[in-house]
Amino acid sequence: MPAARLLVTARLSDPGAVARLRDAGHDVVARDDDRPAAPDELRRLAAGRDGLLCVPADRIDAAFLDACPSVRWVANHAVGTDNIDLAAAGVRGVLVTNTPGVLDEAVADHCVGLVLAAGRRIAEGDRLVRAGGWTGFSTDLLLGLDLAGATAGLVGVGGVGRAVAARLVGGFGMRGRYLARRRHPGLEDRLGIRSASLHELLEEADVVTVHVPLTPETRGMIGAAELARMRPGAVLVNVSRGPVLDQDAVVEALRAGRIRAGLDVFADEPLPAGHPLTALPNVVLTPHIASAGRETRRLMANLAVDNLLAMAAGRTPPTPVTAS
Ligand code: GLV
Repeated sequence: MPAARLLVTARLSDPGAVARLRDAGHDVVARDDDRPAAPDELRRLAAGRDGLLCVPADRIDAAFLDACPSVRWVANHAVGTDNIDLAAAGVRGVLVTNTPGVLDEAVADHCVGLVLAAGRRIAEGDRLVRAGGWTGFSTDLLLGLDLAGATAGLVGVGGVGRAVAARLVGGFGMRGRYLARRRHPGLEDRLGIRSASLHELLEEADVVTVHVPLTPETRGMIGAAELARMRPGAVLVNVSRGPVLDQDAVVEALRAGRIRAGLDVFADEPLPAGHPLTALPNVVLTPHIASAGRETRRLMANLAVDNLLAMAAGRTPPTPVTAS
C-alpha cells in the first residue's frame, strides 16, 4: 500500500487516532487547534492531500473539491454529512464516510439532559442561586414539567431517536409519538411508541425532540406555523442540526413565553455573541456537544480513522455514505 498524504482538519480528542494513521506509514498533517479551520486555511492545508479526516464545521462543497482535486477520500468525524456536498463528491469520484452507530447513546443522554434542564428549569435555578436571588423554599418556585405520563414527540427514529425513546418512554414513563418517513411496527411494539403526522405530534407532545439529518426535506421543517401548534409550555429540544428549525421563529416563540427549549445546534455556529437566544431565560444552550462523551468521541475518531485507512488501502470503508 503506497503511503498517502492525509490531512486531519481539527484536533481529535484521542491523539492515538492520529498516531494510527502515521503508524500505517502515511504522511499526515494534523491541525492542532480547537477552532475550526477557516475556508482559506482548509483549502491551503488540503492542497495536494489524498484524503481528509474532517469535522462538521468543515464545508466540503463543489468549490472546495474543485480547488483541491487531489482529495479522493473524505472521512467525516460525525454521523451528519450536511457539511459535505455528497452529489458533488459522487460525480468527482470522491469517497465519503461518516461515523454512525457509535454516538447514539451519548446524543440521547444529552437530549434527555436538555429536556430536564429546560423542562424542570435546572439552568434557571442554577442562575437564581448563583445570583443570590433565592429567598428560600417556596412551593411555587420554578414549577416545571412532570415527565411521567406526559407525551414525548420524537422527530426521527434513527439510532438517536430510538435511544431517546428508550430513555423517555422506557425510563421516565412518558407516552411516545414519533414522526418518520415510514411506520416502524417493530419499533412501535419494542419501544411503546406510536406514529404520528408532524401536526399531530406537535399538538399532542409536551416534549418535542428533534434528531433527523439535515436534508432539503428537513431544512426548516419546524417554523412559525409548526411552533404555533405546540402545546403552551411544551419543551422543544434540538440535537440534530440548527437549520432543521427556523431559528428566528424559535426566538419569537420563546420571547412570547409559549415554549421552553434546549438547543445544542444553531443556524450559525458558533452562536454569535449577543445573539437574541442568549438573552432568553427559557432556553438552555449548549455548544454542539451532544456526542461529546469521552468514550464516544474516542470511538468516533477511531471509526473515522478506520474509514480513512480502508479508503487509502483501496478497501471498502466500514461506513460509507452515498448521495440518496
Ligand atoms: C455531530 O454533530 C454528528 O453529526 O455526529
